[in-house]
Amino acid sequence: MKYDFDKIIPRKNTNCIKYDFAKVFGKPEDAIPMWVADMDFQVPPEVTECIKAFADFAIYGYSDSGPAYFAAVHNWFKEHFGFVTEREWMVKTPGIVYALANAVRSLTEEGDSIIIQQPVYHPFPKVIQSNNRNLVVSELKLENGRYRVDLDDFKRKIIDNKAKMFILCSPHNPVGRVWTQEELKAMGDICLNHNCLVISDEIHCDFAHQGHQHHVFATVSPDFAENCVICTAPSKTFNLAGLQASNVFIANKKVREKFKGELERSGYEELNCMGLVACQAAYEYGGEWLKQLKEYLAGNLDYMRNFLKTELPRVKLIEPEGTYLAWLDFRELGHDPNDLNKFLAEKAKIWFDDGLKFGPAGAGFQRINLGCPRSIVEKAMGQLASALK
Ligand SMILES: Cc1ncc(COP(=O)(O)O)c(C=O)c1O
Repeated sequence: MKYDFDKIIPRKNTNCIKYDFAKVFGKPEDAIPMWVADMDFQVPPEVTECIKAFADFAIYGYSDSGPAYFAAVHNWFKEHFGFVTEREWMVKTPGIVYALANAVRSLTEEGDSIIIQQPVYHPFPKVIQSNNRNLVVSELKLENGRYRVDLDDFKRKIIDNKAKMFILCSPHNPVGRVWTQEELKAMGDICLNHNCLVISDEIHCDFAHQGHQHHVFATVSPDFAENCVICTAPSKTFNLAGLQASNVFIANKKVREKFKGELERSGYEELNCMGLVACQAAYEYGGEWLKQLKEYLAGNLDYMRNFLKTELPRVKLIEPEGTYLAWLDFRELGHDPNDLNKFLAEKAKIWFDDGLKFGPAGAGFQRINLGCPRSIVEKAMGQLASALK
């Protein structure tokens, strides 16, 4: 491997949320942080080089994306997903959660219903409820260790609540599903038939594991392309979350104008200039780094899978098909779901994301972030086994 993912890079005292705010989050200072979704790896060196060159230039005035930026993003999505975008479809936002909130405000009215599939990324219900929309949940069903969409329930809830919007998580955080084309088609058809706009959060698109293929929702059918907002970002893929750059694609002109109108009303215009540099560099030069990173992450997952199987067989891994996260089922151990995360932080000294954060369907589960050197995974597993035994 050209890149060294084993290297431990101390992150304490860098103001990073993952390591430096244990006290604020009520966790012991010495708990291993395997929670919030950023990785403990440095970004591709080519990206750092571009950032350094721009930093040395030392004029950080108002900036916008030129043709080279669009070409980098366009080529990435065309090459990896067969998603052929057009320049005018692209709207840039300072992050995906921002884009989701903007979509809620611009494309629905107060009191409208918006459907999501829990357990799911916790800001989804927040952007709905804090904007005074009605939250509708169709829970995913866990069957034989794999989550699936309950299409009857999904359809019934859209009809009964006249849901105007569906926020899809694809690939799905935290359960790790990479939705098949058939599943996307089935969900998309229901939405299309009932005037429900799909906001597809595809931030984890680059992390489909071997044997799985991510499909950009807009590529599933031309009708879907007109009934969706595709949210993408280089932030998970290349560990750039703090630079706040994301690219949203909206083919439907009416929808796009409404979305852009709301950005204007909130006074937002251009991305952070360093975010633009990093995003372009990552898509231009980061392909090989990502390939090697994915191999390394697969090794982390293999290690954890084998460890759990031999040492902690009652902690069940929900086999992820994508993302660098994993969803662990602790229910067989019989802990009170409300105390499980605290127990793990205080006794095992591991800081996971509590399953309940992702909705009531997450009770008894924990989400673990495997985007770290192998030695951290090994240490965490050792501590988990000691605490549970
Ligand atoms: C599904 C999903 N969407 C959005 C985000 C965050 O996006 P941003 O930092 O661009 O707001 C995350 C971060 O973990 C995520 O998992």
